[in-house]
Formats: sequence, structure tokens, C-alpha cells
Amino acid sequence: MKKIMTIIGARPQIIKAAAISRALEKLYSNEIEELIVHTGQHYDENMSAVFFEELGIPKPFAQLRIGSSSHGDQTGAMMRDLENLMLKHAPDAVIVYGDTNSTLAGSLAASKIGIPVVHIEAGLRSFNKAMPEEINRIMTDHVSTLLFSPTKQGIANLQREGFSLDLRGIATIDHPKTYHCGDIMHDNSLHFSKLAEQQSTLLEQIGCKGKPFILATVHRNTNTDDPKRLQAIFRGLLTVAQTNRLDIVLPLHPRTRKYLEQTADHAFLEQLSAEPGIHLIDPVGFLDMIALEQQASLVVTDSGGVQKEAYFFRKPCIVLREETEWVELIETGAAVLTGADEARLIAAANRFLEQPPKSFPEIFGDGTASEFICRTISEELFT
Ligand code: UD1
Ligand code: UDP
Repeated sequence: MKKIMTIIGARPQIIKAAAISRALEKLYSNEIEELIVHTGQHYDENMSAVFFEELGIPKPFAQLRIGSSSHGDQTGAMMRDLENLMLKHAPDAVIVYGDTNSTLAGSLAASKIGIPVVHIEAGLRSFNKAMPEEINRIMTDHVSTLLFSPTKQGIANLQREGFSLDLRGIATIDHPKTYHCGDIMHDNSLHFSKLAEQQSTLLEQIGCKGKPFILATVHRNTNTDDPKRLQAIFRGLLTVAQTNRLDIVLPLHPRTRKYLEQTADHAFLEQLSAEPGIHLIDPVGFLDMIALEQQASLVVTDSGGVQKEAYFFRKPCIVLREETEWVELIETGAAVLTGADEARLIAAANRFLEQPPKSFPEIFGDGTASEFICRTISEELFT
């Protein structure tokens, strides 16, 4: 039996892990054992535990309970504990997802003790190193042995950084192999969309059933930690809701709630809370989230995952950033970048509500990325 150690910690990677665990169970239940390690980067019930049960993710083999702190403190503590676990359990490969501090800690710890790293969601670049995620993803790609990119642009970015597309020979950290495989979150969205439609009662609970609404999420540090940007976004959303007589559903990341309460102008916060069409709610489970995405007229977000899910469900999307690593979304015209600029946000929302995009070409694969990844890991690393 071969052993894969999967490192997760933040909300999006817990959700991503569901796709790979499902494929491993389907294809390799007798040959590969998966040891899921949860770093504890996210820990609130609705940021972590909720996903395990509803998405059928195996119970973590180890919980590190690292929690929140500064980048160095958090990443360092994770590395120390992950290295101990890896030395003790000697996995044959380590899987990391995306670009969080948990991703960086897992990839550095494994690569330095000679365990091959598999990076899922490799090659993405925003070309903005002020984002901690950009540093995490570049570092992770460069210590990985197998790199799986969801998009063609990701492959082009890797090539530009010196990665070869030659798939001959044995994959090692010095001879890494890169694959364009589609997006495992597309797999998940297809897999869970029916269940979400059947099970989610969130819209009834918040009194939005049958009403047109906008779904919005904000959590990127550049938006939350800067009171001017944060208020510009919420002011823009309030105007869009009022002028278009639309509700807005905002499942608030704990980081955003914290900064909004600490830094926003008091009178504005009161106006926001008093507006009946603005639903500031706690983070929701994945089934509720994709039910919201399926029903929304428009999605407004700075989340990487939510941008793509809007596209999977053929919804226009306003991206509250100046750049995105998912450039294909912008190229198709289904998404637009507005930064945290109130006027640009309002103009883009009005345009999309009047004239929603119609074309959503298949740029994220056909829903079988996870199986491709598992087969490739088995062939490349275990035979
Ligand atoms: C992290 C990732 C980001 C990812 C996001 C997904 C890094 C550097 N950032 O950002 O790439 O898009 O997760 O959601 O890894 N908090 C809670 N409860 C929790 C988790 C967080 O209250 O369960 C609060 C704490 O105040 C914490 C803050 O949120 O300090 C930020 O959490 P952290 O994990 O450091 O960064 P995120 O903003 O969540
Ligand atoms: N998500 C969720 N509940 C929420 C908000 C987001 O389940 O209240 C899901 C969302 O559907 C997507 C993932 O979390 O699959 C995205 O995570 P997040 O926005 O936290 O991080 P990012 O993708 O930007 O790294």
C-alpha cells in the first residue's frame, strides 16, 4: 500500500480535497492510503468542520491546530509539525493545494526531506508579489515534482519560469513534470450541484426565495485590511442594491466581519445593517454556497474559487481586484476587474444586470481532472 499525505488547512483546500479523496477512493482504494493532515489554519465550525460531513471528506488523520497568527509564525509552526509527522509516517508523496500558508508549509517541509510534492492548482500567477498567495504559489511550484495546472495559461506561466513540458524520464524535484488537467473545482461543482439544489434551504431561511439577488464575498487582505477599500466596496454594493431593487447576500469571511466592525464608519455600518435587502450572514457550507451561485443574477467577489464557480454556473462576475490569476475569465467577457473602486463596481454591475454574458466556453476541463491527477500520481510516482 502506498501512502499519500494530503495537507489542507484553509476553507478552499478542504473543499478541493473532497474531489481528490473521492477519486482516490474510486480508483485506488486497495493501493493507496490517504492520510489527511489539517493544519488548523481555519478552525471555525463554518470555515472547516462543516465541509467534512457534507462533502464526504475522510476524517483527518492528524489535526495540528495551528490557528491564526502572523505569516512567519503560522507557516513556521506548520512546517515544524508537518516535518515531524512526515518523518514519522514516511508518506510516498505529499499533496498540496493552491496558495495558502498551509500549501507553502507542506511543500517546504516535504521537499526538504526528500518527499515528492504534488502541487494541485500549479502555475497560476497574478504577477503581484504584494499578495502573500503569489509568493506561496511560486515557492511551491519550484519545489514540486508533479505540477497540475487547471488552465493553459498556468502551463504557459510555468514554461516561462523554466519548467519543461517534456514528459519523458522519471519525475523528480530536479526534473519536475507539468500537466494541464482541468480544474478539480469544476469536478466538485458538477458533482455537488444536484445535491445543492435538492438540499439547500438557505434562500428560504433568509427570505430571498424567488427574489433576484446578487451574491457577494470579500476576504482578500488588500480589501479587508484597508478601511477605504473595504468601505468603497460596501458602499458600491449598497448603491447597486438600492438602484436595482435587488437583494445582496453576503456570507462574510470572519476576517471581513472583524475588519468591517473595527474600521468602518459607524453611521455607514448602521445604514448597511438597516437596509432590508442586504443580508450580512455567516459563512455558509459548500452546498448552500453553490445553491446561491446557481440562483444569483450576478456574483461580486475577490475570491479565487468563487470567480470560477460563477463561471461554472454561467453567471457574470465582478472581480474586486486589479488583476486575477484566472485571466481566461476576463478574456471571455464573463468577468470583469473593478478593483475596490465604487464607481467601477456600480457601472459594471449595471452593465451585467442589463446585458448578462451569453458565452461560457469550456475552459476548465470536463469534470474529470481529479481522476486524471490520481492516475498520473500512481503512474509517475508509484510504478
Ligand atoms: C487564507 C489564505 C488565502 C485564502 C483564504 C481562504 C493565506 C496567506 N491566505 O486567508 O489565500 O484565499 O484563506 O479563505 O494563507 N479567522 C477566524 N476563523 C477561522 C479562520 C480565520 O476568525 O476559522 C480570522 C482570524 O482573525 C484570522 C483571519 O481570519 O486572523 C485571517 O485568517 P488567515 O487564515 O490568516 O487568512 P485568510 O484571510 O483566511
Ligand atoms: N465558500 C463556501 N462558503 C462561503 C464562502 C465560500 O463554501 O461562505 C466556498 C466557495 O464556494 C469556494 C471556496 O469556498 O469553493 C472559496 O474559498 P475562499 O473564497 O475562502 O478562498 P479562495 O478561493 O479565494 O482562496
